[in-house]
Amino acid sequence: MGTTNVFQITSGADGQTIDLGLVNPDLTRGKATPANTPMGCPGVMAGGENPSIPPFLFGAGGKPFTQALNIPPVLKPTSTTSTTEFYDLALREADVEIIPGMLTRIMGFNGLTPGPTIRARVGRQVVVSHSNNLPVTTLGGTPGDVAIHLHGGHVPSSEDGFPTDTVPPGANRSYTYPNDQLPATLWYHDHLMDFTGPHVWFGMAGFYILTDDYEDSLGLPSGAYEIPLVIQDRNFDTNGELVYTGNRFGETGNTILVNGTIQPYFQVAAHKYRFRVLNGSNARRYQIALSNGQPFHVLGMEGGLLPAPVKVNSLVLAPAERADIVVDFSSLPVGGSVVLQNSLGSGSTANIIRFDVDRVETDTSQIPPSFRPLEKLSTSQAVLTRGFTFSGGMMGMMGGSPWVINGKPFDPDRVDANPKLGTVEIWEFRNMSMMDHPAHLHQTMFQILDINGTPPPPTHAGWKDTVNVPAMGSVRIIMRFADYAGRYVLHCHVLEHEDNAMMARFDVVP
Ligand code: C2O
Ligand code: CU
Ligand code: CU
Repeated sequence: MGTTNVFQITSGADGQTIDLGLVNPDLTRGKATPANTPMGCPGVMAGGENPSIPPFLFGAGGKPFTQALNIPPVLKPTSTTSTTEFYDLALREADVEIIPGMLTRIMGFNGLTPGPTIRARVGRQVVVSHSNNLPVTTLGGTPGDVAIHLHGGHVPSSEDGFPTDTVPPGANRSYTYPNDQLPATLWYHDHLMDFTGPHVWFGMAGFYILTDDYEDSLGLPSGAYEIPLVIQDRNFDTNGELVYTGNRFGETGNTILVNGTIQPYFQVAAHKYRFRVLNGSNARRYQIALSNGQPFHVLGMEGGLLPAPVKVNSLVLAPAERADIVVDFSSLPVGGSVVLQNSLGSGSTANIIRFDVDRVETDTSQIPPSFRPLEKLSTSQAVLTRGFTFSGGMMGMMGGSPWVINGKPFDPDRVDANPKLGTVEIWEFRNMSMMDHPAHLHQTMFQILDINGTPPPPTHAGWKDTVNVPAMGSVRIIMRFADYAGRYVLHCHVLEHEDNAMMARFDVVP
């Protein structure tokens, strides 16, 4: 079992170091080698990254903050009835300019990455019709089949994008989302069994923002002051194409993108801004913090607003976690800048986005001292406690699965748990490996009871759908399986762990 090192090299051009991510010295013997080679037991390995990928293509000319932030377009409904908004999305390959002067082949909703943002209202149903215009074999040599999942959505099983409930190339299907849940920052992405990692890496993800009248009444920064930010890391080759190696420890990139733009700048007013931050990376965790040490407010995480905002100096986001935050730029002079940094990164992965204050604008927005009360689930409500162990599988000459839950690789036909509709359960996740596993379940939001035996920090005390289970640690969560019976999944949201079978099926039974 090795310790983890961070491997860096220095680029010739401007001396900025390039973070190649985590490599395991046991594998490298002083020289970084691809870590995605078959080996005994990944559960005890520390992770790795492919250093043969040229790391010189972040920013324009290797410098960060040279391109303006992209803000994904808000999708317009094709029609509206008294109850429902109808949307159309077409999934296709497209060539987009991510690196100035070069084209990168992606696959995305309407040919964009991230895809268009859907803005939905609580109590109004949304129907999204997806046309799959991908070829039979698409980027990374993967199948063009897809299964579209609304991450964080409380939806009927038939609408959930179960990994084998696929939409083949040339086909079209509609998903119906009731939006009968608390407002929150959700996102949609492909969920095809075994291929979610490459499909998301090459572009298949977008925001789905759910709001309601109560949130509108709070006076939070809105309109031009409410911006979604998806943080993703990628690798590019010298032709500007995305490189995906299928690293079974988790694919990480040396280039940080926000909304599909490499380390952008964003011109802001000296005003409060609400940022809906999504860690949309396959495997990388970020600790977000402002370069001037300025604190920011966390309004909520995956499942919507906390009972009260929480002031922090930094926040760690595991893959799929979201943070609804407010940053106040009014303390900065016009002409001043502040960088949102990643304290877990180094070199090229240390900086995320730079905010440049270029104007003064009257700020009538506010951060109320409290939000609506949280319905706190109590352990006395639980009818059952289930245990799930996350570990590396036993791989040998005969093959086997790299990642397993309760010792078993994902089998879409095997039901691993069957909570009863309408009941409350406690699930205990035990991590028996040396890597973190961000555990995510479909169907419902949950509350964290404890992490390694300690109650969660206030930022994590609200409704969530993903929780990082630390290496060799444990987490207990509590939730109610309301409204919808049927099959759903629980899985690690390091997408390469999920694709390598760290997923379990559970059926909510009437
Ligand atoms: Cu974001 Cu089951 O996934
Ligand atoms: Cu999900
Ligand atoms: Cu994992």
